[in-house]
Amino acid sequence: MFIGLLVRFLLIAGPLLSLRALATDAPRQHLSLDAGWKFHLGDDWPGALRLDKAGANTGPAADNGFTDVTWRSVNLPHDWAIELPFDKTADLNHGFKALGPGFEANSIGWYRRAFELPKADEGRRIWLTFDGVYRDATVWVNGWLVRRHEGGYYPFREDITDVVKFGERNVIAVRIDATKFEGWFYEGAGIYRHVWLDKMAPVAIAPDGLFVYSKFKDNVPTGAAELHVEAELRNDLTKTVEAVVDCETISPDGQSRTHFKGSVKLEGGTQATLKLQSQVSSPALWAPESPRLYKLITTVSVDGNTVDRKETVFGIRTAVFDPEKGFVLNGKVYPIYGTCNHQDHAGVGSAIPDALQEFRIHRLKEFGCNGIRTSHNPPTAELLDACDRLGMLVMNENRLLGSDSENLRKWDVMIRRDRNHPSIIIWSVCNEEGAVENNDQGRNTARTMQAYVKRLDPTRPVTYPAPQGDTVGGINSVIEVRGWNYHPGPDMDKYHAKHPQQANVGTEQGSTTGTRGIYESNQERGHVAAYDEPPHRWVTSAETWWSWFADRPWLSGGFVWTGFDYRGEPTPYRWPDVNSHFGILDLCGFPKDNFYYYKAWWTNEVVLHVLPHWNWPGREGQEFRVDALSNCREVELFLNGASLGRKTMKPNSKLTWKVKYTPGTLSAKGFDAAGKVIAEAKVETTGAAARLELTPDRKTISADGEDVAVFTVAAFDAQGRLVPVAQNNINFVLEGQGRIIGVGNGDPSCHEPDTYVASVPVRRVALTEWCWKVAKVAGSSQTLPEYTSGFDDSGWTPLKGTGGDEPATITTDDTRAIYRAHLALTPADLSVSGVAVNFTGCDDEGWYFVNGQLVGETHDWNAKPAFDITKFLHPGDNVIAVLCNNGGDLGGLNPNVAADIALKPEPVQWSRSLFNGLAQVIVQSTRDAGELHLTATAKDLIPATAIVKANSCAPRPSMP
Ligand code: GAL
Repeated sequence: MFIGLLVRFLLIAGPLLSLRALATDAPRQHLSLDAGWKFHLGDDWPGALRLDKAGANTGPAADNGFTDVTWRSVNLPHDWAIELPFDKTADLNHGFKALGPGFEANSIGWYRRAFELPKADEGRRIWLTFDGVYRDATVWVNGWLVRRHEGGYYPFREDITDVVKFGERNVIAVRIDATKFEGWFYEGAGIYRHVWLDKMAPVAIAPDGLFVYSKFKDNVPTGAAELHVEAELRNDLTKTVEAVVDCETISPDGQSRTHFKGSVKLEGGTQATLKLQSQVSSPALWAPESPRLYKLITTVSVDGNTVDRKETVFGIRTAVFDPEKGFVLNGKVYPIYGTCNHQDHAGVGSAIPDALQEFRIHRLKEFGCNGIRTSHNPPTAELLDACDRLGMLVMNENRLLGSDSENLRKWDVMIRRDRNHPSIIIWSVCNEEGAVENNDQGRNTARTMQAYVKRLDPTRPVTYPAPQGDTVGGINSVIEVRGWNYHPGPDMDKYHAKHPQQANVGTEQGSTTGTRGIYESNQERGHVAAYDEPPHRWVTSAETWWSWFADRPWLSGGFVWTGFDYRGEPTPYRWPDVNSHFGILDLCGFPKDNFYYYKAWWTNEVVLHVLPHWNWPGREGQEFRVDALSNCREVELFLNGASLGRKTMKPNSKLTWKVKYTPGTLSAKGFDAAGKVIAEAKVETTGAAARLELTPDRKTISADGEDVAVFTVAAFDAQGRLVPVAQNNINFVLEGQGRIIGVGNGDPSCHEPDTYVASVPVRRVALTEWCWKVAKVAGSSQTLPEYTSGFDDSGWTPLKGTGGDEPATITTDDTRAIYRAHLALTPADLSVSGVAVNFTGCDDEGWYFVNGQLVGETHDWNAKPAFDITKFLHPGDNVIAVLCNNGGDLGGLNPNVAADIALKPEPVQWSRSLFNGLAQVIVQSTRDAGELHLTATAKDLIPATAIVKANSCAPRPSMP
């Protein structure tokens, strides 16, 4: 009785004290865990998933005692698929990367990361969050299995407070199995998004537990906005507390603030949501052209002590899909000029640094794109941050249709994480579920998912991208906004006439294929002419779908398949083609000709662009199709100064001529309605490439170890003209404060590496010459002369490793024996990254010594420990000794022991060929400020060097 009371008192008193101690001005710490991981490719520890006992025997790679000294060092985000070779027998939809079924050895990878938690953190809650892992992750913390998570596109989070050690070293181990696919496009492999460690007080805002949204009377953004805040609070204490929630909004210009507050009683071990309401008078509205962002600072206090403070970025706007007007933003009809995009980029695959997300959005905005559909999965959170900041509407898409608990949990996770982003205007339940979209079960499931959204987000509608024409049953009969994948034409009008109450949006249109700078299709090379011609039945040219939509505002505009090329889905050809060609931009973000079609009709800028290039040696006299992409009223084309005719442009179209090739200059003039020349363009026959040029997208970046500069490499002729057919191989050298992380050129059939990995060669030395002797040793950890190299073991019994099950050497209970082996090393052997020694069993317990020093111990006959012995070694003879205790039955050391000597990583030479004159190099900063110099060289070309400054900055708060 007395003990019971005491325990209860401690349970209550402990957290009470810590809550007060943790009450500071910034009690929440959100820390990056991206840096300092170790990575190993291969399924070397298949027995790691042990389900019989907790917190033990999961090894060796999941155990704290394991050494990863021979593993490669990586920073996150990391995609190992990008490092793999292309293979003709691999899955074409995933870009022929040697991954997935048939490539099991390349499809399982391990990551490890150690971290220290100070003693002072005791009493705080510790959360571990993975933003996205592809896929099927098993996560251990300190040998405890804390999570299994399959989905490759959803964040997952664990409260690891119970299993971490304060004041000590902790280890996270992650096994990832990317053997299975989730989509039909390149998906990457590994921890390809950020990882975070959050330290919070026991009373705090729950993860993703803050929701702020605004409403206007009748959805018309005039006057004051009603502001709603829902704060979900957790109480991990055992006693009831009264939590006071204080909210402050800060306007985009920082000038006006509002305050409001409320409180909620939270019983011990529970969560509760506090709903608060306020007003923002004369709000500054968010729109893609004016992405004004508010801040909400939420402070939680208990008994006058601040226990949590969180900043949430939000925007105030109205967004409505209207059946007649189409999409209406802030009260005005606003056509969506959208693009669908997957999440990979040249050079880096799906591991896109945050700055590269921004780079990609900038490229899309250049041709007037104002919206993206995150096809076909929830995106990285940082993409949404960038859309909020830079102004880009988002259709946020879920991966799979499903209303079972697991699918609803994913749907829930995605909506809670993302619902504060003003950029998101609509949720998409999934993409093209052809097998079920027309039946009752598909309808029921979509209806359940749609209803679920309303509980979490009353502000946004839901759509389903349907690859159907005038089809009414199934999902279309219940979904709020009818999504149109393809089918521009009379079906749309018919459907609209029958369902005048349902809003519409072009969820996926186009699927036009074209290769940058290519004007004659070539199946053998996997290249498609970029004349905007539809290759398949169901797809259309840019002109066909857009001119249909432009005339029908009720369709709300639409999303082109796709903004950027992506890996996989090579269409219409297969190998050697490894990428899609659907993009308006190629995989690097270089514009294809369609860029100018969209720019002409999606922006207010005057556009005049002429294609093809004019380098056709040996083809003199042959006829070529010449297009002018322009929004000028009339365009006149000239060849070497002679007019080839002036034509009138129909809105949303383009102009075409047939021209016999003569080298020289093909030029065009664009006229306005008054007949005034408002634009000129030309393409010239160039000479051979003579020099290189390197142009970074930015002249300064942050020295935070994460920021990137994206360099364009281009070849020019002696007259300074870009050579549109140059294919030279270029070498790159980076000096100074940065590292190259990826290269690309936009050629969908290029099989050159995207990334060059400095691999760590590992030399394995088997320790075969074991000898042993039964010994009466009282203690276990203290050293003996038998463990050192001076000791004479010539009288001991030899023991040979055979690679199979070794016969037991100790045959009596409660008996100890010492085993010795030698490892001869030269000084060169020791100038390495590290040396690990791997054991395969010591029955029942073992104490392991190197040159007389204890390196570790095991207490499980099945343990297969690996120790980092680097610091115990010296040139000459080294002795590895094991004291083994057989508790009962048979026992002894398994003599199959090997030392892995990890050599220094080999330097790599970065290179990439130009594709039609261009290539791209992505360079990341380090945490050291200074200049980085990138030099590009090629045979017979004048080299180029470009300089980018990495400015010192406060790096993102992170775990050391
Ligand atoms: C669509 C599909 C996309 C992509 C595209 C290629 O039907 O939704 O994911 O496969 O076809 O044209």
